[in-house]
Amino acid sequence: MGKVLHFFLTFYFFSCFFAAIYQQNGIDRNTDVPTDNCIIFAQILTMDFEKEIARRRTFGIISHPDAGKTTLTEKLLLFGGAIQEAGAVKNNKIKKSATSDFMEIERQRGISVATSVLAFIYKDKKINILDTPGHKDFAEDTFRTLTAVDSVIVVIDVAKGVEEQTEKLVEVCRMRNIPMIVFINKLDREGKDAFDLLDEVEQKLGLNVTPLSFPIGMGYDFKGIYNIFEKNINLFSGNSKKNIEETIAFDDLNNPELENIVGQEAAQELRDNLELVDGVYPPFDNEAYLKGEQQPVFFGSALNNFGVRELLDCFIQIAPAPRAKRAEEREVKASEKDFSGFVFKIHANMDPKHRDRLAFIKIVSGTFERNTPYLHVRHDKKLKFSSPNAFFAEKKEIVDVSFPGDIVGLHDTGNFKIGDTLTNGEKLNYKGIPSFSPEHFRYINNADPMKAKQLNKGIDQLMDEGVAQLFTLELNGRKIIGTVGALQYEVIQYRLEHEYGAKCTYENFPVRKACWVEAEDENNEEFKEFKRVKQKFLAKDKQGQLVFLADSQFSLQMTQQKYPSVKFHFTSEFA
Ligand code: G4P
Repeated sequence: MGKVLHFFLTFYFFSCFFAAIYQQNGIDRNTDVPTDNCIIFAQILTMDFEKEIARRRTFGIISHPDAGKTTLTEKLLLFGGAIQEAGAVKNNKIKKSATSDFMEIERQRGISVATSVLAFIYKDKKINILDTPGHKDFAEDTFRTLTAVDSVIVVIDVAKGVEEQTEKLVEVCRMRNIPMIVFINKLDREGKDAFDLLDEVEQKLGLNVTPLSFPIGMGYDFKGIYNIFEKNINLFSGNSKKNIEETIAFDDLNNPELENIVGQEAAQELRDNLELVDGVYPPFDNEAYLKGEQQPVFFGSALNNFGVRELLDCFIQIAPAPRAKRAEEREVKASEKDFSGFVFKIHANMDPKHRDRLAFIKIVSGTFERNTPYLHVRHDKKLKFSSPNAFFAEKKEIVDVSFPGDIVGLHDTGNFKIGDTLTNGEKLNYKGIPSFSPEHFRYINNADPMKAKQLNKGIDQLMDEGVAQLFTLELNGRKIIGTVGALQYEVIQYRLEHEYGAKCTYENFPVRKACWVEAEDENNEEFKEFKRVKQKFLAKDKQGQLVFLADSQFSLQMTQQKYPSVKFHFTSEFA
């Protein structure tokens, strides 16, 4: 009897013990379903995860050089308390201290070759600004960065209006339905009439604008801005026009007080202008903006810190949190639990001795955690990262967890190339990082026969970084480098020599455009004839896709007419 009692007591004791452990872990022992605690814990995690996604704003600022992109970036950082000193961005101080790694050539030329990330917190929103090189020779770099933004701000100079580089960049954003806000800058100077500018933006950029602020005067007579979004007036203070304005809530424009605030003439003009705005432009529609169908416009002066806070306050309210992204296989939502992200930028030569590179990954879904193995989809192998970098305005630091919308920098010794995808295990390939046709083409020759291996390795890695495009001629296997601007040839030559110990020379290759070729049927006679006749102008790109190199627009048209069944694409991504 004693033995039986002992057995039951022991059984009871262990049952209680294991039940307690299961309870602690939030699992109900009997049913193996989560208990209330577990559900609550998971809910808190999910809530936090969703809150983290909702508070992120990842965007880029695009403009023609000199419109004020750097100045605006700096003012946004000042508002976010991320920098204390005006001029820090301009002097490149942030960039240098953020990464202390910029290529020698970049320092020498004072051109921002690299795209950097500047992050800060403003009113509890985590803002990630992806800086884009303004120089047109690095436009492809900017195009690639635009694959990682959730929205953009377009800066336009009030005097110059819409310029060439802006047109190209906005076209890319329009094609991808990226939400855009337009900021018309330098209102402290004389410039074009506000309505003329709005017309120009609509016509040249193909946008559907609606002003959310409107200037009161301009240049010498610039008095301030009426904030249509918040219904208040922001005044420039004093003659210096340098200080943060006085803000006066003002929702009834018929109030005669307006005369006292801005003067008789300006008051009447403002009333007339706003009546016209009301009559001509549709009201702001957040949904349409998010779909890329309507673009709100703000006026201001970045240099004088004017209109910037209004822009930022509105931006954090209306701009999208991280959006879903299309992979070849399916659309991936930011809120999905499993991590996925893609490489949109590789920043090389952190330390020439170690040939270290930093791959910039945009997190699309799930959380990215330090020291966790992730699948490198192209290589089909797992990689772990012990020191992923997050970026803040003045520094970069090792981060344990990052959320959708964030950018992490991963140290890389040659595993990554632009467009690579990392996931928790699913085989996803993110689309949308196409190559565009280069505008310059040159043969690349080895100038030091002893260093052929180094040269090939160097070319290979630089192309993976997206510095330029490599084409190999079908006829004789000669290598051709295609670039957007002539400056890249110098960059490549310099880097091959300093990072790989290889020397190269260039030779002109008289070609204007590269088109990616697709045949309806590879065995079709017309396609076979096209390949035979145009053999001299056919090459393979780095992915092995067939490319037709046209020596003029005319010859391209003739070829298209002669071989109607052959498809000519102007970007590498057409499937
Ligand atoms: P970017 O990055 O788009 O190339 O333009 P950036 O900000 O460098 O600005 C280009 C020039 O325009 C700079 O003058 C800058 O000070 C000026 N600027 C920017 N915003 C405003 C503005 O609201 N009003 C006026 N009047 N000027 C503005 P800079 O002479 O080239 O340089 P700096 O000597 O001022 O540094």
